[in-house]
Amino acid sequence: MLKVENLAVHYGVIQAIHDVSFEVNQGEIVSLIGANGAGKTTILRTISGLIRPSQGKVEFEGKAIEKAAPQKIVASGLSQVPEGRHVFPGLTVKENLEMGAFLRKDAGVKDDYEQVYQKFPVLKERLSQDASTLSGGEQQMLAMGRALMSKPKLLLLDEPSMGLAPIFIKEIFSIIQEIQQQGTTILLIEQNAKMALSIADRGYVLETGRIVLAGTGEELLASDEVRKAYLGG
Ligand SMILES: Nc1ncnc2c1ncn2[C@@H]1O[C@H](COP(=O)(O)OP(=O)(O)OP(=O)(O)O)[C@@H](O)[C@H]1O
Ligand SMILES: [Mg+2]
Repeated sequence: MLKVENLAVHYGVIQAIHDVSFEVNQGEIVSLIGANGAGKTTILRTISGLIRPSQGKVEFEGKAIEKAAPQKIVASGLSQVPEGRHVFPGLTVKENLEMGAFLRKDAGVKDDYEQVYQKFPVLKERLSQDASTLSGGEQQMLAMGRALMSKPKLLLLDEPSMGLAPIFIKEIFSIIQEIQQQGTTILLIEQNAKMALSIADRGYVLETGRIVLAGTGEELLASDEVRKAYLGG
């Protein structure tokens, strides 16, 4: 469904991503894990069309998208929840969700609001509240709800667990699995290797801009390298 081939990304003269290749198949949860500064967000923003690669290809459902405009990419069924959530302050919860549905012209929008409220009941209770007054965990839910309102075939999540209490992390990860079960494919970017690999069909480990390991979630969780570097031994 998504194919990244020999990707290189530069910031000025500094190369952040080196020859990265990976793929996400329809129906999978694929986790990309790595430490601070490994290049996770750079890869996600490149897939979303917000950064142009200096080399390599990004294919979504067989079409090259590395030169496409970000809004075209969203309209084609690929949506991201950015790092740090970025809900729109000054807009209510409902208005934030509406922004997610902005590019849609189909008749299913109404049902999809209901689906989002079912997954995140707290949002329904707070529809008229300013998004900036939500707690961190609630903002993560709103950012996910907003992305779901664009009805993505592939959902990209950038560190959904960041800054959240363990109980919220558990809830968010179980909702990610529910979203997969309802037919959306997921690319999950995380520093929380344990959680991310435990729900992943497959995963990749990114170190200083290079993929150094690949395998099923189970294989990676059991591997010595991952245990030493990410799971505390
Ligand atoms: N706009 C930018 N200009 C220059 N360098 C950048 C820019 N954005 C990121 N970088 C650099 O690129 C590298 C990868 O950063 P990136 O944000 O992709 O890492 P990350 O894996 O998402 O890290 P984190 O887990 O901390 O979010 C880092 O060395 C970072 O300093
Ligand atoms: Mg990041």
